[in-house]
Amino acid sequence: MKRRDATRIERATADDAAEIAELYLASRTQALPFLRRVHSDAQTRRWIADTLLTTRETWIARSGESIVGVLALQGEDLDQLYLLPGWYRRGIGSLMLTKAKELSPARLTLFTFQRNARARAFYEAHGFHIVEMGDGTGNEEGEPDILYEWRPDRS
Ligand SMILES: CC(C)(COP(=O)(O)OP(=O)(O)OC[C@H]1O[C@@H](n2cnc3c(N)ncnc32)[C@H](O)[C@@H]1OP(=O)(O)O)[C@@H](O)C(=O)NCCC(=O)NCCS
Repeated sequence: MKRRDATRIERATADDAAEIAELYLASRTQALPFLRRVHSDAQTRRWIADTLLTTRETWIARSGESIVGVLALQGEDLDQLYLLPGWYRRGIGSLMLTKAKELSPARLTLFTFQRNARARAFYEAHGFHIVEMGDGTGNEEGEPDILYEWRPDRS
């Protein structure tokens, strides 16, 4: 069932930090089980409250009272996009990406892990192209990654 019609995209506030952190931790655990854990959950919660929400333009997808997605932009860089497990493949990621394209209409870039097949299929379905394959030396998890780019005239 598609639930995107009932989902609102809103700017995140400091009050959302704890719920965003639980979503982020659950989504990473579910979607990226292969990833080496380099931060404790407590460090991640602090990073969301003190860094993500203060230095990135952070948006949430809300369904009813619950936050079901989070997206963070830093200029043209789509820094984070995570949905709550159980909410995938209902068009909510697309709704959030549409927001990111509105906010950065000339270009978006992002990194994803090569083993994240779901995310790769999602970004490629939305017109992102591979710029560079990395061997993992560029991220703290040491996991091979991909730099993707979207431009409106190339998608
Ligand atoms: C990646 C993610 C944001 C995608 O959001 P989503 O709401 O599940 O995706 P959508 O429902 O909007 O999908 C849009 C299109 O992308 C493609 N797509 C999405 N998930 C796919 C999958 N698992 N397999 C193949 N194609 C997929 C399809 O073309 C889909 O259109 P369709 O459903 O009409 O066939 C979401 O699955 C997620 O949060 N995953 C876990 C966290 C993560 O890996 N984030 C990315 C970190 S870089």
